[in-house]
Amino acid sequence: MATVVKLHVVPECLNQQKTRSLRRGFGSCPSPGVLGFGHYCDRFSVKVCRAFRTEDGGDVKEKKLRNLKKNEEKTKRESGFWSSLKSILLRNFMVGSKSDDEYRQAVAKVEGLLSSIAIQIGRYIVTMMSTGVILSIGFQMSGGDSQMDALIWYSWLGGVIIGTMIGANMVLEEHCRAGPRNVVITGSTRGLGKALAREFLLSGDRVIVTSRSPESVQATIKELEENLKEGIANAVGSSLTKLSHAKVVGIACDVCEPHDVQRLANFAVKELGHIDIWINNAGTNKGFRPLLQFSDEDIKQIVSTNLVGSILCTREAMRVMRNQAIAGHIFNMDGAGSGGSSTPLTAVYGSTKCGLRQLQGSLLKECKRSKVGVHTASPGMVLTDLLLREEHYMQLKQTDFVIGLKIEPDFLSPMQWKCTQRTPGYLSSHFQLSVPS
Ligand SMILES: NC(=O)c1ccc[n+]([C@@H]2O[C@H](COP(=O)([O-])OP(=O)(O)OC[C@H]3O[C@@H](n4cnc5c(N)ncnc54)[C@H](OP(=O)(O)O)[C@@H]3O)[C@@H](O)[C@H]2O)c1
Repeated sequence: MATVVKLHVVPECLNQQKTRSLRRGFGSCPSPGVLGFGHYCDRFSVKVCRAFRTEDGGDVKEKKLRNLKKNEEKTKRESGFWSSLKSILLRNFMVGSKSDDEYRQAVAKVEGLLSSIAIQIGRYIVTMMSTGVILSIGFQMSGGDSQMDALIWYSWLGGVIIGTMIGANMVLEEHCRAGPRNVVITGSTRGLGKALAREFLLSGDRVIVTSRSPESVQATIKELEENLKEGIANAVGSSLTKLSHAKVVGIACDVCEPHDVQRLANFAVKELGHIDIWINNAGTNKGFRPLLQFSDEDIKQIVSTNLVGSILCTREAMRVMRNQAIAGHIFNMDGAGSGGSSTPLTAVYGSTKCGLRQLQGSLLKECKRSKVGVHTASPGMVLTDLLLREEHYMQLKQTDFVIGLKIEPDFLSPMQWKCTQRTPGYLSSHFQLSVPS
């Protein structure tokens, strides 16, 4: 089954407006007060999926990359706002034979730049006016007393210094996070995990793929590398720069085995240096039937993969993240039962997903004021192997919890991300995954 995924980056305000209207899917619905990290938005159309094959060789891409690096070094030498504005204009307008798309991109870039300048100027004016008002009120109240006036001037100066320091800190932190993110995704050789890995990779991030089978891991790395080559071949400008940092590596790991999980974390640190995002995606449900028909082995497998595995991985990710200089974020996958609702015919699966919510609630409190963010990702219903294997699809139609949901071969499910804790300086991404069968 081919998995097609699109990543949308949208303004935060849109996201917040839509959070309340998130559609209830196979995953749980968002709880009130949960900050939106993703969204379900009617306005989004499903764009043409990426073609992940390339016919031409790698020479053109390498040339492109080399040229790009040269350009990058050149622009680095001429730093500053005006040189960047000049280079954008030159690059995008003065060079002849530009396609419509490139022209539109260029216009959007310039627009973005100008609007950010306008915002900065606006902020500056508002700040100056408000400090001016505070100063004049202070002077009026001092009634010309020179000692009071000096005190007001000193407090004003102190405020300016503290404000500048806080602002600079925020800008620096933002700047540090703007680079490629290092992402670990468990269970990423199929379905949602692989779809996520592809999206991160094609956004210029460095990704570690993993599952129990070393062969699947190698095959997935190969496939994603092909996707990346294709992405690089089609990219221009800043997208190409971004993609030049992307990388995909992998290692086999059974999340039920503490030793494997530790090995995965060590591998991640060795390969990437630090971990920005760790997604506990590996999961299984072993089919849809009454509990009496689940074998001992099935039950053990579901609980140890979904619950024990996620706990082991979360602990290992926390160990790594709390020792690194920058913040890290852990995501556990929601699923049917997360919100505490009943999940007939998949009772074991539902209880593990409910358990993960409990874990999340406790860790949010344990991790308060730490550099580790703990979140849940709620994919809604997506027709992956998890649902379609062993004729689950047919049985699924009869179960209660899917009544009202559209289940069609071209069913598209939005991927909802919920961010339950915000760490300052973290650049949130907004995903909408569409996985047609
Ligand atoms: N599909 C949906 O509609 C839906 C809805 C809500 C939530 N979710 C959640 O989303 C996650 C992914 O679901 P999916 O539909 O993409 O499932 P999937 O297509 O069955 O893929 C599961 C992935 O996990 C790996 N895996 C399974 N057991 C593992 C273990 N013990 N250790 C390491 N890797 C393991 C599998 O690879 P190997 O078998 O090779 O190890 C595979 O790569 C799950 O947590 C699921 O509960 C899915």
